[in-house]
Amino acid sequence: MSQEVRIVTSGKVIQSPCGPIVHGLEDVLVKTTTISDIDGRNGILWYRGYRIEDLANNSTYEEVVHLILYGKLPNKRELEDLKTRLASNRDLHPATVDVIKALAKADPMFALEAAVATEGAYDEDNLKLADALRSGRYKETEKALALRIAEKLIAKLPTIVAYHYRFSRGLDVVRPRSDLGHSANFLFMFFGKEPDPLAVRAVDLYLVLHADHEIPASTFTALVIGATLSDLYSVIAGAIGALKGPLHGGANEAAVKSYLEIGDPAKAKDVVEAATKPGGPRLMGVGHRVYKAYDPRARIFKGLVEDYVKKFGDPQKLYAIASSIEQAVLSHPYFQQRRLFPNVDFWSGIVFYYMGIPYEYFTPLFAMSRVVGWTAHVIEYWDNNRLFRPRACYVGPHDLQYVPIEKRE
Ligand code: ACO
Repeated sequence: MSQEVRIVTSGKVIQSPCGPIVHGLEDVLVKTTTISDIDGRNGILWYRGYRIEDLANNSTYEEVVHLILYGKLPNKRELEDLKTRLASNRDLHPATVDVIKALAKADPMFALEAAVATEGAYDEDNLKLADALRSGRYKETEKALALRIAEKLIAKLPTIVAYHYRFSRGLDVVRPRSDLGHSANFLFMFFGKEPDPLAVRAVDLYLVLHADHEIPASTFTALVIGATLSDLYSVIAGAIGALKGPLHGGANEAAVKSYLEIGDPAKAKDVVEAATKPGGPRLMGVGHRVYKAYDPRARIFKGLVEDYVKKFGDPQKLYAIASSIEQAVLSHPYFQQRRLFPNVDFWSGIVFYYMGIPYEYFTPLFAMSRVVGWTAHVIEYWDNNRLFRPRACYVGPHDLQYVPIEKRE
């Protein structure tokens, strides 16, 4: 692959007086990366060269964090060291806890943005790194510091999410436990009790599957902020803001809500048919900008949903309804011709719903995972940083006659 940044205009191109505009930057290359790669035509995803299936079947989220941040799968000692560092960084600054409490009734994504920004204001390492970046002292020592700050963010996001849930329900917060792994500790802080191993596996698998995905809108937001030499916590607060939008995070919530509304697997065929009509409602959890094949993450998570409903049942028939929709989608010419397949969001919400995690915490879970990809891409970009400064094609008037306010109509 070419090392230089080049613009491909095969995406949706708009002609303007200044030349072609690549709408939504579709297919525009902005950096090289060794973090993740997607083969959308064949439905393949790699992290640092490893197939997602191998990582999902064999590695925990902590191992994937090491792989993504440090470029290699950890040996046993490296993994234990990383787990110890993550566990020791889970607590929050008292000011952050106050912010979460103040936003207890707000959507958790607002609380997550605000809490991350607050935590960053009190993290001396973050301020030290920002200083180094601004004075051009970003060398190996500062890069090591950036990686340690990334670990802190990864460690703290679950605490923010769990504390918000507890405050929002008027419950006492449950402090993190250093003897538990990343996903088990999150569930322990969230529900305040020892989690079921299959629930831990579900959260951990979800975190592995969402850890990175090249440059979607939130990662691009992170890069734009990082390239200004802002600080790493501001990078993540901004990325969370981008993820909050319904065109990015949040489709798993919409998918589960639609299954609940459908209520009966026998109705699935009609719902799918309605989505093929002009102006009909889109099927949530179906289709993807990059994957024109079955999303490999969806296939993996579907297996987990099957294990979960085998163990705990499918009281609201969510799995049965989703399966009927899937069958109807895969066999319908409308979806076949447009290369529309179930994506990861088609399945992931079902397990969270059955575990008792309220819908509004689904996107925060996404952020808890993607924080590793966001930080890794920004740290990678800082090796050869350049401010993002695109141009717009101005199509308004110039040199209008200025009229004083008292003479304006
Ligand atoms: N249901 C019905 N028709 C669809 C769907 C869908 N879910 N998705 C796309 N189409 C149709 C469009 O109507 C369009 O048809 P047309 O050619 O007759 O006009 C065609 O497929 C192409 O659609 P685009 O909007 O151009 O495809 P794009 O690549 O921009 O969209 C997107 C991708 C946004 C994910 C879309 O498939 C969608 O809205 N899906 C539902 C929401 C969803 O599941 N999002 C999660 C994505 S995965 C993630 O973020 C982790």
